Amino acid sequence: MNGNLIIKNAAELVTCSGFKAKKGKEMADLHIINDGAVIIKEGVIEAAGKTADIEKQLNKIDLDRADFDIIDARGKAVLPGLVDSHTHLVFGGYRAEEFSWRLRGDSYMEIMQRGGGIVNTVNATRLATAEELIQSAIKRLDSMLSFGVTTTEGKSGYGLDRDTEIKQLEVMAHLDQIHYVDVVPTFLGAHAVPEEYKGRQDAFIDFLLKDVMPTVANRKLAEFCDIFCEKNVFSVAQSRHLLSRATDLGFKLKLHADEIVQLGGAELAAELGAVSADHLLQASDKGIKDMAAAGVVATLLPATAFSLKEPYAPGRRMIDSNCAVALATDFNPGSCFTESIPLVFALATLYMNISIEEAITAFTLNGAAALDQADRIGSIDAGKNGDIIILEFPSYHFIPYHIGVSTVEKVVKKGNLVFDKETGGIIYC
Ligand code: NIG
Ligand code: FE
Repeated sequence: MNGNLIIKNAAELVTCSGFKAKKGKEMADLHIINDGAVIIKEGVIEAAGKTADIEKQLNKIDLDRADFDIIDARGKAVLPGLVDSHTHLVFGGYRAEEFSWRLRGDSYMEIMQRGGGIVNTVNATRLATAEELIQSAIKRLDSMLSFGVTTTEGKSGYGLDRDTEIKQLEVMAHLDQIHYVDVVPTFLGAHAVPEEYKGRQDAFIDFLLKDVMPTVANRKLAEFCDIFCEKNVFSVAQSRHLLSRATDLGFKLKLHADEIVQLGGAELAAELGAVSADHLLQASDKGIKDMAAAGVVATLLPATAFSLKEPYAPGRRMIDSNCAVALATDFNPGSCFTESIPLVFALATLYMNISIEEAITAFTLNGAAALDQADRIGSIDAGKNGDIIILEFPSYHFIPYHIGVSTVEKVVKKGNLVFDKETGGIIYC
């Protein structure tokens, strides 16, 4: 595995070209090259263009072609690897029982208020060993990879105490090392109020600020700090307090904002210059305007709305208001137990009035921007990581059309073929 690869004759090379988030109308522009080719050298994209032009270039530049693997992508569409920019992939236990209560009519917040929900997973995650968390997360990352995900974000937030929060983040650092999928860690200590701080939210926030976050920052265990800004969880004022201090400690910011109740989370994200605000089912018109002006990526998680039977976020209105929109799964054991990218594509295109092109930008370049990595991943441009997916169909139009089924045949990570449906799945080296 040397990261040297040439992919040629692609029916559609969907480059998604760009180095920063695409806003509004720009999201529909995928920069497609018909009969395209890509050269990846030592894991980094060296050139992309028409196959004929790339072949001419190959003759000119000093490449030892014997050292390059070649994939003939005739009759296939080729895209950048997908970026799942919002997940909670490291956790202990499951909450299948709560799902059946929700089917009977109990709401997510009712279950949370009577001591279930996030705190239920907290108990199981505190009890789990790091090794158990690693083993369960590897299976989840394998599944994500099969859907074409080459970078994922992962949040802590199922510890709510110092040791378990750090254990979750250490597990993510380890996963990032051992798995093909890159894992970008987010500190979400303010995910819920643990039993021991019941009714004392402010004291819990002080505990996170004094006893946990300095260590997380010093050890560089998380790039982002996130908070569940929601009625009966953390208020806008508490979120502002925690997140402004997080900025001082060197964290970039994300928020779980305006998910169930319109609290003003979108406005707060814009005020604080957050990289992304996520969920946003109830975002106000002012919040949408503020996010567009401040360049906050609006990260929409339609599988969660679907699973909670809540109305979808106003994605169309956000794009028409010149926001940069990203899509992600929100994979977690409670509100949204799915890592299914095909489900999210189906919901976004069929129920949120987001076009196929916009949805692809939302899962590639804008997903990368939601992780502040649009300069490194999320498109097929020279200088970026050679993270690429090859579909089993000739056009990107098949992605949502094949409802709920993955169209990904091959996944290339940093120039190495790491997943191939044709030869039985993940390729271990
Ligand atoms: O993004 N909304 C808060 N947090 C997660 C759910 C976590 C859980 O239920 O375990 C979410 O939906
Ligand atoms: Fe979430």
